Amino acid sequence: MIVVTGATGNIGRPLVQHLLAAGETVTAVSRGTSAPLPSGAGITAVVADLADPDGLAPAFEGADALFLLVHGSGAGLDAAAIIGAAKAAGVRRLVLLSSVAAGTRPHLSAYDGFRALEDAVTGSGLAWTVLRPGGFHSNTLAWAPSVQQRRMVFAPYGDTALPSVDPADLADVAAAALLDPRHAGRVHVLAGPSTTPRQRAAALGAALGEPVTFAEVSREQALEQMVGWMPASVAEDTLTILGSPTAEESAVGPDLAAVLGRPGRTFATWARDNVNAFR
Ligand SMILES: NC(=O)c1ccc[n+]([C@@H]2O[C@H](COP(=O)([O-])OP(=O)(O)OC[C@H]3O[C@@H](n4cnc5c(N)ncnc54)[C@H](OP(=O)(O)O)[C@@H]3O)[C@@H](O)[C@H]2O)c1
Repeated sequence: MIVVTGATGNIGRPLVQHLLAAGETVTAVSRGTSAPLPSGAGITAVVADLADPDGLAPAFEGADALFLLVHGSGAGLDAAAIIGAAKAAGVRRLVLLSSVAAGTRPHLSAYDGFRALEDAVTGSGLAWTVLRPGGFHSNTLAWAPSVQQRRMVFAPYGDTALPSVDPADLADVAAAALLDPRHAGRVHVLAGPSTTPRQRAAALGAALGEPVTFAEVSREQALEQMVGWMPASVAEDTLTILGSPTAEESAVGPDLAAVLGRPGRTFATWARDNVNAFR
């Protein structure tokens, strides 16, 4: 049995289905606050909070492997206690969803939580794999209201290209890491095809069959929007990456295609698959 945390999210939900299709049984875990947990043959749904490690025993009971996905960057979580609960339950394999920024931005406090989790996972004595993705295609869902209402995207750094990755591809990579022991002891940096925000707006327009206008906003204006759904310090650090990416953050590295055995799905494909969210 494999435990999938974040089982109602962008990666966890397709990961549960992928593991079931591979013949595994799954315990699907979240707090159950943002969406109903998946159900069906082979799935045990358990409501649990990673912020309460003492309550994780029922979620981890009988598990061989754990996919660990945390909210935000895991700030404030007790990484050692979560991994301790997994070990106590008999988990032997851990796959952590971290972030490329945990490696590229050692001085930005926004990623301290991921670094603590990575240290706990890699020091656990268990077979581990760390996934460090760049930005997700699905981050553009934040543009959905202005695209729906005005066919417009307001974003900073319109012509700065960055790789982004389809969460469904991350689910495929996570499944590979959970099922194939050759991924043990590896850190995969997962960056899909590179596009600029202006190109992503155009791809949404192509998916809708109507032009979507890109309007560049200043860093200050973007910060004002972002603090609506993330802490100000995290928004500042995110904007630093979006505006001034390092060479590693800008690079489309080899890991994603190597694990998938195919190139990562493009933003244009994701836009077509998710166009209803923007109608
Ligand atoms: N978006 C990016 O560009 C990007 C880049 C690199 C890394 N990441 C990382 O990717 C991860 C997923 O991000 P996402 O935005 O796509 O979110 P998501 O996976 O779509 O949603 C988060 C999931 O975690 C669950 N959850 C939240 N808090 C929890 C808690 N305390 N205990 C148990 N479950 C909890 C949520 O369900 P409930 O709310 O119902 O509990 C939901 O299932 C995050 O760690 C993020 O930092 C994102």
